[in-house]
This record gives sequence, C-alpha cells and structure tokens, in this order.
Amino acid sequence: MAMITADPKDVPQVESFAFAPEYLEKARALIAQYPPGRQASAVIGLLDLAQRQQGWLPRVAMDEVAKLLDMAPIRVYEIATFYTMFQLRPKGKYLLQVCTTTPCWLRGSEGVMKVCREAADGETFSVQEVECLGGCVNAPVVQINDDFYEDLDEASMRRVLDALRRGEKPKPGPQIDRQTSAPVGGPTTLKSE
Ligand code: FES
Repeated sequence: MAMITADPKDVPQVESFAFAPEYLEKARALIAQYPPGRQASAVIGLLDLAQRQQGWLPRVAMDEVAKLLDMAPIRVYEIATFYTMFQLRPKGKYLLQVCTTTPCWLRGSEGVMKVCREAADGETFSVQEVECLGGCVNAPVVQINDDFYEDLDEASMRRVLDALRRGEKPKPGPQIDRQTSAPVGGPTTLKSE
C-alpha cells in the first residue's frame, strides 16, 4: 500500500522549526481565543503563521504546531494536506493562484494560466491552479500572495508580472476600468441623487 507522507522525497529536508518571537506571540493570542481544552481550533491559524514565517510548511513546522496545540501530528498533517492554501514544498517569491473554475474559465482563465505557466521559474514565480476564489464577478481572478488581481486577460497578466519582476507593487483589484465589483462602464441602477 502506498504511504502518504508530508515529506515526499523531492521536498528538501528541514531539520528544525521554532516560531520566532513575533509569530509565537500571535500564535499564543490565537490559542487564547478558544476555551480551555479546545485549543486545537487554532490549528489553521497556526499553520498559516508557520507558513508565513518559513515561506512554506515543512513537516517539522507541522510538528511544532501539533506540540503547541497538544494534537497528534497526524491530525495536523491531515489538515495541512487537505487545504490547497498550505504549501508543502518551497515556492517562489510570488505564488500565482490561478482560478480556473467555470466563471473564470468562460472569461479567459486559460490564457491567463498560459502566461503564468510561462513565467513560473520556481524562484520569482510559482503557479498553482485553484478552484473558485470567490471573486467570480470580476473573473478571471488570480490571487498573488495575499492580493486578488481581477478582470485579467493575457496582456494585463503580463503587465502585472512584469511590474512584480521590477520590484513594484501593481495595484490589486480590477485590471480594467471598473470600480470594485460595479458593472463595467459604471452603475446601471440607483443613479439618481
Ligand atoms: S470562478 Fe473564479 S473566482 Fe469564482
């Protein structure tokens, strides 16, 4: 029977992990939000903190989370390997999470994905196909680290990636002349004073 582990052979081995003081403080604050005996409820928050500190989630980081929450390590691995938000191997500086669910696909996510795949070098950019990001009204959508880039096409996706390469921070949100999630071209209802 094949064994599923949190450390496949092609993942670099990390020998140890400890939360840095500022992350440990946040972890303790999260744990304190739950009643005594229910500290395991903080597991997703702690995994997120570990990933933000390390850049990805090596098994030793999951083990540290398990220790802090008094959980069996396997319970933490089960959660970390279920959610695509957790990266179980190193990734580039910018993680391009490209939504390819139906609304984004109908609005051109294939072309956007092609541009992202071409850019993915594992150092500056990594790419991941994801399900609906919840921004369908502005499809197609790509999440880059913590920001959403919306109403993309191949040309605007290239512009965003070029700006990131130059060390700039392109403005998140719609990449066309649209105000947040309002209709393209401006409001169509409730227009009177
Ligand atoms: S389908 Fe892409 S954000 Fe919902």
